[in-house]
Amino acid sequence: MKTAVCYYSRHHENTRKVLEAMRAEGEIDLIDVAAHQTVCLEEYDCIGFASGIYGFEFQKDVVAFAQQYLPAKKPVFFVYTYGGARGTGAKAVQEIAAAKNCPVLGEFSCKGYDTFGPFKLVGGIAKGHPNAQDLENARRFYREILEQNPHK
Ligand SMILES: Cc1cc2nc3c(=O)[nH]c(=O)nc-3n(C[C@H](O)[C@H](O)[C@H](O)COP(=O)(O)O)c2cc1C
Repeated sequence: MKTAVCYYSRHHENTRKVLEAMRAEGEIDLIDVAAHQTVCLEEYDCIGFASGIYGFEFQKDVVAFAQQYLPAKKPVFFVYTYGGARGTGAKAVQEIAAAKNCPVLGEFSCKGYDTFGPFKLVGGIAKGHPNAQDLENARRFYREILEQNPHK
């Protein structure tokens, strides 16, 4: 199965670590939305959107990317990491997928080390995350996505 994941991961690259774990289960093209490239997602069997949670929501460039590039009816999945308050989680990208009639294959989230603002003063929260168990859960999640897809 040909999979691309469009992602934003800057704070501690927590989300990127999760995606790298998934990539151990099957090939995934990782597309950093902050690289400002033009992409064609038509050629993929399935598209993931992934982000750290910033200000209680998916990072806005990932949402804009989904709005601009996600083809109609393309199967999708969502991945995010958060420090402790996931807010609306993947809601913004879920809504875009729904408007484009894209079937949702699943959603994965886990905690990610967070030293934003006042949390830095206490050494951060969600220390050590994503941990080995989170990464194992991520691999299992992607195996299940692969099992759902007839193109594997
Ligand atoms: C500017 C900023 C805002 C954040 N806002 C939230 C938030 O609203 N809720 C939360 O749980 N974590 C928040 N975090 C923590 C991140 O979601 C968490 O560390 C995440 O794993 C970062 O992913 P990344 O390393 O892939 O960028 C914030 C971090 C930063 C830097």
